[in-house]
Amino acid sequence: MAVGTVLVTGGTGYIGSFTALALLENDYDVVIVDNLYNSSKVAVDRIELICGKRPAFYEVDVTDEAALDKVFAAHPEIDSVIHFAALKAVGESGEIPLEYYRVNVGGSISLLRSMSRANVTNIVFSSSATVYGDATRFPDMIPIPEHCPIGPTNTYGRTKTMIETVITDQVEAQRNNNKKAGKSFDQWNGALLRYFNPCGAHPSGIMGEDPQGVPFNLLPLLGKVATGEREKLLVFGDDYASKDGTAIRDYIHVLDLAKGHLAALNYLREHKPGVRAWNLGSGRGSTVFEMIKAFSKVVGRDLPYEVVDRRQGDVLDLTANPALANKELGWKTELTLEDACADLWRWVENNPKGYRQDPPAKFLEALKAKTS
Ligand code: UD1
Repeated sequence: MAVGTVLVTGGTGYIGSFTALALLENDYDVVIVDNLYNSSKVAVDRIELICGKRPAFYEVDVTDEAALDKVFAAHPEIDSVIHFAALKAVGESGEIPLEYYRVNVGGSISLLRSMSRANVTNIVFSSSATVYGDATRFPDMIPIPEHCPIGPTNTYGRTKTMIETVITDQVEAQRNNNKKAGKSFDQWNGALLRYFNPCGAHPSGIMGEDPQGVPFNLLPLLGKVATGEREKLLVFGDDYASKDGTAIRDYIHVLDLAKGHLAALNYLREHKPGVRAWNLGSGRGSTVFEMIKAFSKVVGRDLPYEVVDRRQGDVLDLTANPALANKELGWKTELTLEDACADLWRWVENNPKGYRQDPPAKFLEALKAKTS
């Protein structure tokens, strides 16, 4: 018997697919909706290869409310939603803002409307540490706690901030309305999960990030330098006020991040807290140079780089204070950025075409040996 059934929007994407896997491994049933805009249905096969269970999958766009209604109608057992589906390229968000507001904010509103019709009352939302903006504008806000004032510096971050507000208002309104009507109200709950820098891949070597276009995040780009697809890494500025001049981020292994979603969902179901925000990060800050070094180590040679100007919108330091999630969720990161580098390299080196190729036979055999 499953402990519950979760609708995962954006469940074939990078973090969504790892979360779907973690849910299945922990006895939840999973229904994925995804429009496959920046992902592949093959992720569903890989989830099944790893855990032996297959999530239900619907090719549905989260802005299509009627289609969402149909999915809820087909699965009356769904009791919670984990919401990932969104556009996520910071640079692009400044060029086509209306598209970002339509998909990210509009999609979340469709989802919440459809949830309320289907009486599905728990939502875990994929937010981002980018909602804090430059936390160094305040004294003593690094590492960043959840009470750090919000102040996103780009359109993408503003969509995440708005969605946090929409979810908060909706959950509080549903609670108040039900309370006034003398009905039970504490079934309405929301978790706002502010991720720091997700990275890494599945240690089996058959599941990882497979973006459709050119990646723009540090580790996927380092992967392309290591395979020779890119000549060198461009380091965006070495004149920051850090120990080596490059910017500081908190890199979190995608397996730990996925477990954070599970912990947040379990907390909502058990404690019915209303809306809570939690940072999901390790608390360890690393500079760009440190990351180049760590990745070079697993690859076995020095990777070429060149220092260029700062990237617009970048901030000096995004390091999490994860104490609240540690305490309330009983969750903390267990893997290191060195693990993430090793797992990422295994994925990238052995799957040059990502999900557009078969998984390497040696990894499938190793998986079979493990599960049999
Ligand atoms: C970015 C987004 C963030 C989003 C996250 C996940 C910005 C300002 N922030 O985070 O909102 O949630 O991605 O998609 O874009 N770097 C280089 N050279 C490169 C690439 C990156 O030096 O080619 C540096 C960056 O300056 C930064 C660090 O590496 O200091 C990490 O960059 P990246 O992986 O793009 O993530 P963030 O910018 O932290």
